[in-house]
Amino acid sequence: ETLDASGLHLLPGAIDAHVHFREPGYTHKEDWGTGTAAAAMGGVTTVFEMPNTNPPTGTPDALALKLKAAEKAHVDFGIYGLLAEDNIDQLEALIDGGVAAFKCFMGNTFGNLPSPSTGAMLEGFEILAKHGMRCSLHAETASIMAWRQRKLAAAGRHDPLAHLASRPAVVATEAVARAAILAEWTGARIHVLHISSADELRPLREAKARGVDITGETCPHYLLFDEHAYETLGSIIRVNPPVREKHHQTALWEALSDGTIDMIATDHAPHDPAEKRRDDIWTADCGFPGVETQMQLMLTAVNEGRFTLAEYVRMSAGAPARAFGLFPRKGALTVGSDADIAFVDMRRRHVIRAAELHSRGKITPFEGMETVGLPIHTMVRGRFAMRDRRLCAETAGWGRSVRRAQAMPTPQPRNLDQTMEAVLRPPAPASARPRAVA
Ligand code: DOR
Ligand code: ZN
Ligand code: ZN
Repeated sequence: ETLDASGLHLLPGAIDAHVHFREPGYTHKEDWGTGTAAAAMGGVTTVFEMPNTNPPTGTPDALALKLKAAEKAHVDFGIYGLLAEDNIDQLEALIDGGVAAFKCFMGNTFGNLPSPSTGAMLEGFEILAKHGMRCSLHAETASIMAWRQRKLAAAGRHDPLAHLASRPAVVATEAVARAAILAEWTGARIHVLHISSADELRPLREAKARGVDITGETCPHYLLFDEHAYETLGSIIRVNPPVREKHHQTALWEALSDGTIDMIATDHAPHDPAEKRRDDIWTADCGFPGVETQMQLMLTAVNEGRFTLAEYVRMSAGAPARAFGLFPRKGALTVGSDADIAFVDMRRRHVIRAAELHSRGKITPFEGMETVGLPIHTMVRGRFAMRDRRLCAETAGWGRSVRRAQAMPTPQPRNLDQTMEAVLRPPAPASARPRAVA
């Protein structure tokens, strides 16, 4: 059987470092079958799946349940283990059990997992550093402001910093800066999820300049929507962190092109449309599916001249592969050199329709958008998972864990005094530091 690929571009399959597939626990929102089908349809050949399921992926038993659920995957996957206050003693067992990275919820979000104290994070990072494991961060600490407000309100006092609590980007900035310092002290690798504001970029740039092994991602919705989306989309665009004002959006595009933000991920967060389509924007569930539409949206940006195809490949595949250890290294890895390929038609027009998505959460803020550039076939380790825009049902179960056979080389912990000096030094001018294209 032959394939006519004339007129198509062959790209490395996208690696989405941030998806929520909801199984076990919330399969009315998504499961591993529907989630990875959506990935295959979107030209995505590897996903990293988040631990805010039920049970949360914080113990070896919970990990076993998740690995079982993932047996029907169409595409390759890494499983995130949870780093929380009460499971620091489980981290090594999770690593032995096959997690590919860790996730730390510094702020509260879906799943209601309490955020760990700074002390627990420090202890957790020490352990992860020994194993070369990266920790991805939901970097928001609104709880600091909430705690303060509760305390001052109880004392009948006005909060002179109340204006900061109403500027959510401020709490994300604090979280990025604090996590970067803990990473610097311990030598842990970290990744900042869903960067949504200009404010977070300063601590990210500073940490990179100090040599912290820190990477960052943003998502298509932060690049394509701003505050005006609330008027037209209402609760559909409700996501955590929220889409923000135009100047934040502009800064994110700049940070992508200068390499401050390393990669594009989606925060694929499907919900049952009934739970999502609530009239009240403050109670609707946060998030929406994204893994199926990322590539076509970003290829449209390539066609618009926002960045080159080579830059897109760096952000969609090269950077995540490097950050999460998927490149072949001394023969120890299981993926990276195999045929994970998206065949794309750079001229193909397509209108996004929620009803046609393969995710169970058939709702999208991109409804009705016309895109130019579309994945036509998706190949996972040499087998078609999507062919001619159709899911290949027989690849259910072909996807496998990317967990490496061996840990990556251990980074060296850094000198504490140097760290403090670097923290106290005034910020370097935020000049663009161009990076080589992968
Ligand atoms: O919008 C969001 N949805 N943000 C998160 O941090 C969690 C996610 C979810 O799991 O629904
Ligand atoms: Zn998050
Ligand atoms: Zn998320």
